[in-house]
Amino acid sequence: MPLSRRAILAGSGVAASSLALGAPQASAAPVSDAAARPFDPHDWRSVRAQFLLDPSYAHLSNFFFASMPAPVREALARYRRGFDENPYNFLDDNMFGREEDMIWRDVCAAAAEYVGGRPEEIALTSSTTMGLALIYNGLTLRPGQEILTTTHEFYPHHESIRLAALRSGGSTRKIPLYESSFRYRPEEAVARIRAAIRPHTRVLGVTWVHSGTGVRLPIRQIADVVRDVNRQRDDADRLLLVVDGVHGFGAVDEEVAAMGCDFFAAGTHKWILGPHGTGLVWAKPENWALLTPTIPSIMTKEPQDAWRQNRPPNGPTQASWISPGGFFAYEHQWAVIEAFRFIQRIGRRRIHDRIAELNGALKQGLARMPHVTLHTPVRSEHSAGFVCFDVQGHTPKEVVRILRERRVVASGTPYAVSHARLSAGIVNFPHEIEKTLAIINGLK
Ligand SMILES: Cc1ncc(COP(=O)(O)O)c(C=O)c1O
Repeated sequence: MPLSRRAILAGSGVAASSLALGAPQASAAPVSDAAARPFDPHDWRSVRAQFLLDPSYAHLSNFFFASMPAPVREALARYRRGFDENPYNFLDDNMFGREEDMIWRDVCAAAAEYVGGRPEEIALTSSTTMGLALIYNGLTLRPGQEILTTTHEFYPHHESIRLAALRSGGSTRKIPLYESSFRYRPEEAVARIRAAIRPHTRVLGVTWVHSGTGVRLPIRQIADVVRDVNRQRDDADRLLLVVDGVHGFGAVDEEVAAMGCDFFAAGTHKWILGPHGTGLVWAKPENWALLTPTIPSIMTKEPQDAWRQNRPPNGPTQASWISPGGFFAYEHQWAVIEAFRFIQRIGRRRIHDRIAELNGALKQGLARMPHVTLHTPVRSEHSAGFVCFDVQGHTPKEVVRILRERRVVASGTPYAVSHARLSAGIVNFPHEIEKTLAIINGLK
């Protein structure tokens, strides 16, 4: 008997209780009581109890690759079980049967609710990297047009731009938005962008929260600059704002669809706490129409019907045409629904405030240490969930190693100039911040 989509989404499709899921580690001292009680989204101990994170570590690098909360693990296991029990029927019923039974549509609906947009504005990807590549590779630049970006982008953004320019013959230019990240001023960053835009600049690519410094850009103000520029342009030459949004998405209290960018790419396997290998791109229909798909999609009928009828697809490109086929790890993609539900239950504002509070405490503590150079701006409006710093007499790698030996998970930024990096999230507590600061203080 096929598992109905409603039953699967509600969690009753298979005997979830038999899967022994979600049992938090008994030794998690501050959360073990909370684990025994029903989930209370207003209690941070109860939030932490939803994760299987090893309680013997302070996990201050969770931004990297999410540990999934219990409801996401449970959904993932339900879907996996459905695939293991009857892979053909399970996929056919939930992906290729009736339009209204396609679970990916529920993923888009959950994502749309979170971004404040519409389901048909969401393409589902496997990562931020894939989203950026699909955007830049899909855009057509005319000869002489350029992509303007910054020196602060991470590898997948710079590389997507470089590869797109290689293919289309366009040019690229990188500008710094600040000299000192610690003294970063958003007005100056916006002014630098305004001054750098030229008549032939077709695309502006920026990152919301810089993973090399912790700086957060004011996307709304940058979008205002783009809007001003576009007042003087024909629609066909519109300047397009592309945002690598991964480290603001799930960390900052913003409705992405209201920020004013044209394309927004993010993974959902970092701050959104979804399964690994998941992500999305958000854009309005008129912007999707500008893209040529890179990877054949199997999420929507028109491109496949067109193939069967030996004709080009009819109509403008839509988000679903950009969502790549072939078969995905659908159990991962579909369980993203539960990740959005989980963070929505806690509340975007509360998550933002908690991240600002914990990372703020890290920054204040580090700023007081004479042997530490803090690179992330102290003000919470100018940063998000990263704290980048250097310790005199130690390389970033050494700092990360020493912290790890003392059971604090830090990271080194993987840029040309590397710093040590901490990142507190909703799974952390003030005592972990104090412990980390004490270790770094001891490195004098
Ligand atoms: C700014 C930035 N963009 C993109 C990525 C890559 O994200 P993904 O693994 O989702 O492709 C990272 C990785 O942390 C990043 O820091």
